[in-house]
Amino acid sequence: MGQRTKIKALLESEQTDIEVVVKGWVRTFRNNQFIALNDGSTNNNIQIVVDFENTDAALLKRITTGAAISVTGILIASLGKGQKVEVKATEVEILGDSDPEKYPLQPKKHSLEFLREIAHLRFRTNTFGAIFRVRNSLSFAIHQFFQERGFVYLHTPIITASDAEGAGETFHVTNFDLANPPKTETGEIDFSQDFFARPTNLTVSGQLEGELAAMALSDIYTFGPTFRAENSNTTRHLAEFWMIEPEMAFYDLNDNMDLAEALLKYVIAYALDKNKEDIEFLSQRLEEEEKQKPQAERSEMNLLQKLEFCLNNDFERVTYTEAIDILKESTPNKKKKFQYLVEGWGTDLQSEHERYLVEKHFKKPVILTDYPMEIKAFYMRQNDDGKTVRAMDVLFPGIGEMIGGSQREERLDKLEQRMDEMGIPKEELWWYLDTRRFGACPHAGFGLGFERLVLFVTGMGNIRDVIPFPRYPKNAEF
Ligand code: 4AD
Ligand code: MG
Repeated sequence: MGQRTKIKALLESEQTDIEVVVKGWVRTFRNNQFIALNDGSTNNNIQIVVDFENTDAALLKRITTGAAISVTGILIASLGKGQKVEVKATEVEILGDSDPEKYPLQPKKHSLEFLREIAHLRFRTNTFGAIFRVRNSLSFAIHQFFQERGFVYLHTPIITASDAEGAGETFHVTNFDLANPPKTETGEIDFSQDFFARPTNLTVSGQLEGELAAMALSDIYTFGPTFRAENSNTTRHLAEFWMIEPEMAFYDLNDNMDLAEALLKYVIAYALDKNKEDIEFLSQRLEEEEKQKPQAERSEMNLLQKLEFCLNNDFERVTYTEAIDILKESTPNKKKKFQYLVEGWGTDLQSEHERYLVEKHFKKPVILTDYPMEIKAFYMRQNDDGKTVRAMDVLFPGIGEMIGGSQREERLDKLEQRMDEMGIPKEELWWYLDTRRFGACPHAGFGLGFERLVLFVTGMGNIRDVIPFPRYPKNAEF
């Protein structure tokens, strides 16, 4: 196989009149002469000029949208407009045919809904090429951010026997023949005969295991898949999503907020720098889409401006109690425009409330802290008021909750009391409680939903479009 050059490098090449080999997939073939070729290294295609008069007609017919080809030719300064260089082909080889009658991707605009049905091919569109290159950069930037700060990347188990969030939204893991599981004498399923000799599930969060490691390594982070069997058919929820969970010894809630804000700004800046072309493309795409909407619903900023804005402004830090006061006094609440009216202190915030705070009131990312104890997980540190916990949620425009986290309850008696109140079995979490028995210290952490971050940076509207193969109720295709 000849040395092949990727299209990104060719388009940036300072040198011309050199022989090159380029491989990729045909996007379009015009006038039997001009091939737009793409290999995924950039959103831009390279133009291949075919000498059709001296090329076999049978071969020309096989240059169709979707076909994989290899071209040997000379890289020349382009005669046409729109590109600096192009390749004058001396040899075209078809590596894989693509029957134009059957190929589902036509060179026209397809709806995102349709592309979701052919997710195995949607990588070949400009939009999804851009999304997955941005996703790649964001993952790399996350590792770089933590590695630069001496955090240890920790692999927490995918199969666990605990439900870290206590929300009961787990997928069971079993080796049983489901039609015929072994039963105990009293007729219950006998898990002692199952693979792990106990009921197990896919993890909803690596946090509890992360805390164990932080109690020795100081600063750790996880970055892996998590699973939730919540039956939410929304544009913000997946049944399988990736989460980044840092956990830091000797951090309080303020340190935790500082880290979360620094992380988000770092990775957004990284993607803006590394994927400028892709983000510009996605920004234009969004502007086109917004043109379909009535003026009042269009956003004031385009995608690039939104990202820059987020980098250049401090996130607003507000307590839950302050937020409730703002919401109670807000116009949509007074005019009964909210679906769920905000009447008093203590109820959980709905996404309409979060979006009001972020998009209408503060008009920037907001960190809400000190939520009522009753609506948060058992492991959050109790405040002295006896009502609230050291929780934080980072809310983003257009997204809602991007991050959930807290300072952890390090006092054994308080933690046990809360577990009792919430009916969380202490004996099953004996290993977690041991960290509070031996060398407990103040510590904090958070979980960043990776797809929600990718949503924000790409400006896409549906979480199913920023993960290669989305898992959601009634769908596990591919
Ligand atoms: O707020 P959550 O449930 O927090 C935790 O799991 C903690 N154990 C994190 C920690 O403190 N270490 O989830 C964290 C984030 C949410 O803010 C959201 O961005 C994302 O995970 N998330 C989801 N993303 C996609 N689909 C879902 N079903 C999600 N559920 C949560
Ligand atoms: Mg949460």
